[in-house]
Amino acid sequence: MTKKNNQRILTSTWTESLANNQHPDGKALIAHLRTVHQNNTGFTEKCASSCRDKNGRNSYEWLAEIVPDIDGIRVLDLACGSGPLLKILYDSNKNLRLKGVDMCPEELALAKARLPNGVVDLFELKAQNLTSIDDNSIDVVLCHWALTLMNPITPVLNEVSRVLSSGGRFAALVNGPMNVAPRYSDVHNLIYEYVQSKLPKYGEIDLGDPRIRSTDKLKHLLSESFPDAKITIETSVVSMEGPVVKVAETTAGFFYASFILPPEIHKIMLSKLADLLTTSKQSRDLERQGCFSMPINRIVITK
Ligand SMILES: C[S@@+](CC[C@H](N)C(=O)[O-])C[C@H]1O[C@@H](n2cnc3c(N)ncnc32)[C@H](O)[C@@H]1O
Repeated sequence: MTKKNNQRILTSTWTESLANNQHPDGKALIAHLRTVHQNNTGFTEKCASSCRDKNGRNSYEWLAEIVPDIDGIRVLDLACGSGPLLKILYDSNKNLRLKGVDMCPEELALAKARLPNGVVDLFELKAQNLTSIDDNSIDVVLCHWALTLMNPITPVLNEVSRVLSSGGRFAALVNGPMNVAPRYSDVHNLIYEYVQSKLPKYGEIDLGDPRIRSTDKLKHLLSESFPDAKITIETSVVSMEGPVVKVAETTAGFFYASFILPPEIHKIMLSKLADLLTTSKQSRDLERQGCFSMPINRIVITK
């Protein structure tokens, strides 16, 4: 996007395909995700670490519970981003053997900076081709909020199956059913309406393989790559509360779609979002409180 024109959306080969009514390919998807992450490193954890379930856990902590507290367990964080999950795992047991993989070097740099030297092996790799990870070498593969972005997805699942040891576990945190979290679909629809005013096909075509967003289709897809495995999908809701302006900013920053909006439109969208998320009666923006809730699914596969 140029600074001269405040009304231009963020452009990538992915958004250009949508604008031309074409289906973007996997390369365009990777290029788009890289652009968004280069410009907004660490954005996922800002929202995900603030949203908590009724037991006070955020979604990283919920996913980390899958890892047994046993020295020497080998864990791979697939698409580790800026490394919040690896940090939680390291703090919970310094003798876990941790690896992290991501395709975005800027995110990996943040992950490296937050962890003591040498305690985690980090690799810049695509999840579709985990060349540096040996067969049967991992006891638990975790993937937090990233499976939804991957297309093609089958090579990713096959790579996870290849690197997992027999009896190993794959656990992923993905979007849950929209209707279980109050007002979540209103938030989603509001952000997408603004995005569609600029790029009408955004939504009809979205990031990643659409099957990951549907619990039934996801189960079917997973059973193809893990035919004899036990697969469970649990649903939960996580929420954050606070000054509504901050809640709205953090919420919008969790939706990839919002990053394509030109600054002027982004500002208007944020103000509407703040109205939607308001939970108190104060009229002045700075005093108003707000709440955002989102649905999450935890998938656990035992090989
Ligand atoms: C929403 S962020 C989540 C990051 C981190 N897991 C977290 O929850 O904080 C998605 C991450 O997936 C990575 N990613 C997306 N597609 C990928 C792929 N095909 N291979 C490797 N990394 C990928 C992105 O670079 C980004 O860091």
